[in-house]
Amino acid sequence: MDVMVLNGDGIGPEIMNAAIKIINKLHENFGLNINPVEYDIGAVTLDNGKWDLDHILDEARKYKAILKAPMGDPKLRNTGGTEKALDVILSLRFNLDLYANVRPVRLLPGVESPLKSYNNPDSINYTIIRENSEGLYSSHFGGLVLRDELAIDNQTITRKGTERISRFAFELAKKTKGSPKDGKKSVVCVDKSNVLRSFAFFRKIFSEVSSRYDEIVAKYMYADAMAQHMIIRPDELNVIVTENMFGDVLSDLGAATVGGLGFAYSGNISDNMGMFEPVHGSAPDIAGRNIANPTAMIMSTSMMLDWLGFGKFSKIIEDSLFNAIRSGVRTPDMGGNATTSYFTESILKNM
Ligand code: NAI
Ligand code: MG
Repeated sequence: MDVMVLNGDGIGPEIMNAAIKIINKLHENFGLNINPVEYDIGAVTLDNGKWDLDHILDEARKYKAILKAPMGDPKLRNTGGTEKALDVILSLRFNLDLYANVRPVRLLPGVESPLKSYNNPDSINYTIIRENSEGLYSSHFGGLVLRDELAIDNQTITRKGTERISRFAFELAKKTKGSPKDGKKSVVCVDKSNVLRSFAFFRKIFSEVSSRYDEIVAKYMYADAMAQHMIIRPDELNVIVTENMFGDVLSDLGAATVGGLGFAYSGNISDNMGMFEPVHGSAPDIAGRNIANPTAMIMSTSMMLDWLGFGKFSKIIEDSLFNAIRSGVRTPDMGGNATTSYFTESILKNM
């Protein structure tokens, strides 16, 4: 099966290289039938006109799964490359209707959490479901600045969008083991329904959907309270469902509790397609130095294989990754001095 691979910018090609090596080894040693088709798409190639949006979307529609490295290069901010890269990221999510952004917040074995009381594997293990097709970010292609005096963006929440994302969250909760604390399965609806009507509507639709899931507890929390909860009681969480921008912000917070952005992986999922990528960006401050942590890229690959029905292979990836980390191999963000290539070689050796 062909999979579209987007190499991105900054550390993108470095961490994608790690993922491709692992896919190739799974092919050679265990017969995984995945053929990565690489596309050199990122702010740089968008800036020089090699790719345009429609062309990328036409290509993307040929695939069931996309593996994506981070895109964006602040150096190209004035020439437009980075704006175009953001257009590509958002267009892939919006135009391909990848409405569920699934972002696990999981303390992997061998990784340290800065939250001292939760410092053992699986004491933090929940998933943020970020609505990915509407919310405030849907204003990206429509915001308005008037006479350099006033700027307006609109938040869109639809019944259809909220129903399907709520259903997605409850269906996911069904498949989990519940919260680390007591194994209870729950979905928390995160919003600011006290302040904005659009959020009150979000909450109302969520509540309607929840009545169809007796076996799962439906909970409600305001986004600011959730930010605190994720730090002081992360073990009580199982599944969170929230609006686009809240999901974006809260998932970086979640990442910090499980070792940093290098460990935050994700899937953007529709009813028939999936795009898998790290939560983090192209990390221009460390690009080109072979020191990026490729874990998020590798875990995104594992998530993709699992979603495609190759769960056996994703288990091989995770076991060998965890073994490498447990044996003490650490990139600088984890407090060690392993290079990206050394880290990757250690995983390959463990396979
Ligand atoms: P960033 O996530 O690239 O970096 C934030 C900090 O985390 C930096 O200090 C960086 O070195 C560190 N970091 C991130 N990933 C790491 C890894 N794998 N290993 C070790 N350290 C890591 O966020 P920033 O700087 O705000 O954005 C840089 C560019 O990436 C921008 O152009 C932005 O638009 C783009 N971006 C793209 C995303 C995507 O393609 N989905 C998502 C987020 C940002
Ligand atoms: Mg983000």
